[in-house]
Amino acid sequence: MTIDPAELATVAYEVKDGIAWVKFNRPEKRNCMSPRLNRQMMRVLDELEHREDVGVLVLGGEGTSWSAGMDLKEYFRENEAKGLGATRQAQRESYGWWRRLRWYQKPTIAMVQGWCFGGAYGPLFACDLAFCADEATFGLSEINWGILPGGGATKIGVELMSFRNAMYHALMGENLTGPQAAAQGLVNESMPLAKLEARVTEVAKVLLTKNPVALKGTKDAIRRASEMTYDNAEDYLIRAQEAANSYDNTGRKEGIKQFIDDKTYKPGLGAYDKSKAAKK
Ligand code: COA
Repeated sequence: MTIDPAELATVAYEVKDGIAWVKFNRPEKRNCMSPRLNRQMMRVLDELEHREDVGVLVLGGEGTSWSAGMDLKEYFRENEAKGLGATRQAQRESYGWWRRLRWYQKPTIAMVQGWCFGGAYGPLFACDLAFCADEATFGLSEINWGILPGGGATKIGVELMSFRNAMYHALMGENLTGPQAAAQGLVNESMPLAKLEARVTEVAKVLLTKNPVALKGTKDAIRRASEMTYDNAEDYLIRAQEAANSYDNTGRKEGIKQFIDDKTYKPGLGAYDKSKAAKK
């Protein structure tokens, strides 16, 4: 099937030194998420997920916006006019790629340089880590145009923020600056825009040194464990590690050996050299 080049252009990406730099690419529409963008993002995630030259995925935005949320015209109004089937399809397409990203094989980092509104909280939460510019602006703007924060945005508010902060944020329609978003838990860190890409690169490079099977097991465990009782989490984590062993049964043994026998590193201070295990 031939895909319209305009649809392909809604997402930009390049792979460099193990990092996939993916960008929302509708800067003239502030990177709001249209059905076409949602479909193309799924294709891009699909293509990159199991590539051997990709160890970490960074999701950024072209221009002044990370993403201005759902496209009010193409996602909401045009689909509503077509009927319930079209609305449900558009929901499946957007929620689909956010879900794919939440459970992505590789660690993911949101790099938020500008506007981040409403529906954009979906991919923001889907990324494992998030860094933003002090100049970025975060808002649950739904209340300002007359709907409640749907598409997971309310859930994300209560997952990441305190009850009082989430309630205030959702009811008031006031925006947060980057440092405020960091203080309230929406992102890991905020910094001047000029430093953002370098910091994200630094974090990605650290992740690239870690055992990839352990990274996937860990990111899934952090997401799952928050919804489990202690006993269920304990059981899940035993089984998750044993399942991880079936994908990589040498990594952790090499990690122990390099510390205990070879004395070439200290786990408390950094990662073992995984290239040595790979050569065996
Ligand atoms: N849906 C549809 N179109 C959008 C959009 C959205 N979420 N966000 C921006 N656009 C469009 C504008 O309509 C405008 O289109 P036009 O050039 O054809 O007139 C274009 O993108 C540029 O937007 P503009 O508002 O002129 O940019 P700005 O830099 O002055 O303001 C925002 C940026 C993000 C503050 C503003 O665009 C905005 O409030 N967007 C809506 C945010 C929102 O509530 N999102 C939640 C949706 S769930």
